[in-house]
Amino acid sequence: MFSLDYFMEERNSSVMKPLPVGGYASIFFSCVGGPKTLEINISINGESRTFDVEPRTLLVHLLRDDAGLTGTHVACETSICGACTVLIDGKAVKSCTVLAAQAQGCEVTTIEGLADGDQLHPLQEQFWEKHGLQCGFCTPGMILTANQLIASNSDPTDEEIRHGIEGNICRCTGYQNIVDAISAAAAQMRD
Ligand code: FES
Ligand code: FES
Repeated sequence: MFSLDYFMEERNSSVMKPLPVGGYASIFFSCVGGPKTLEINISINGESRTFDVEPRTLLVHLLRDDAGLTGTHVACETSICGACTVLIDGKAVKSCTVLAAQAQGCEVTTIEGLADGDQLHPLQEQFWEKHGLQCGFCTPGMILTANQLIASNSDPTDEEIRHGIEGNICRCTGYQNIVDAISAAAAQMRD
């Protein structure tokens, strides 16, 4: 099976990479002659979970339909909008472009896993404080993308923030309050 890095690289690119035919072949043949479902184990928000999934199941659908974590949104299903962004082993990934089976053995973090009990994550707090959302549809994906951005750059400029979130589309805010929220969260996390 091909590496998750295939999907993690250049996740902000608006140009989709071609499908890795060799990689999908094994899944195709497992559909034709093998078992109808695969048993996979994924750590989701720190909890080890086992699922029986069809080989074609996308991670976003497993998270929403099987794991009941509907904070991960789904819209375009074509790697454009970023609404479905989650962290896989700490890297922001559009979960509509990943087969659930590819997350076997990985640590997946969804928006539900970010807060520490009743204590909101700084990004959640600052999106609230800076009015970084209106309808909120893009917000889980924005926050998880920003989480990875801050993990690799603790003091991003506004320009770097805008570049970091360019794979996530917001239909409401005009982005300025989102940039302000991420910048404020980064400052809070540095303190
Ligand atoms: S639903 Fe995955 S990128 Fe839009
Ligand atoms: S707040 Fe509505 S899509 Fe971003």
